[in-house]
Amino acid sequence: MTAGEGAHTFEVPTAVRMQALGRRIAARLRAGDLVLLSGDLGAGKTTLTQGVAAGLDVRGPVTSPTFVIARLHPSLRGGPPLVHVDAYRLGGPAELDDLDLPLQEGVTVVEWGGGIAEGLSPDRLEVSIRRRPADERRTVTVVGLGRRWQGWRLITSA
Ligand SMILES: Nc1ncnc2c1ncn2[C@@H]1O[C@H](COP(=O)(O)OP(=O)(O)OP(=O)(O)O)[C@@H](O)[C@H]1O
Ligand SMILES: [Mg+2]
Repeated sequence: MTAGEGAHTFEVPTAVRMQALGRRIAARLRAGDLVLLSGDLGAGKTTLTQGVAAGLDVRGPVTSPTFVIARLHPSLRGGPPLVHVDAYRLGGPAELDDLDLPLQEGVTVVEWGGGIAEGLSPDRLEVSIRRRPADERRTVTVVGLGRRWQGWRLITSA
């Protein structure tokens, strides 16, 4: 496993820009890919996922699920579906396995996946979102792990 290669850090001033970052990430995603999102309550994990959904062109809306743990958003253009998981209420990796997610067919994005979803694949993007008090600005770090993401680049022009 190659850790840390292709790590990117972004300053994201607004929610709209967070969605734009999600669209840029989506441009690199294909069926079978896994993205783990970490960050505190309200950090912007779902907002970024909305951008991923827009980029993949899947049926929305993408929301922070209250009672639903995983939601499948079918493609509107014959591409992979988005599998959007909120692992907040999951007790551990076994409960995640029980969901029988279509990991090979879909692009899977897991909120609160830290400590639970790493076992799904050694190949994954790990996105951490940090917020500051009294500021809309977020700092986002994207790291690609595993062979899939070796030497990858995200176009960083604004
Ligand atoms: N720079 C920013 N990036 C992302 N969201 C922002 C930003 N500035 C303000 N916001 C707002 O912060 C909120 C982020 O909520 P969101 O549901 O995306 O967070 P979350 O990390 O998914 O939360 P939860 O842990 O409850 O699932 C939204 O209301 C969004 O509009
Ligand atoms: Mg959320």
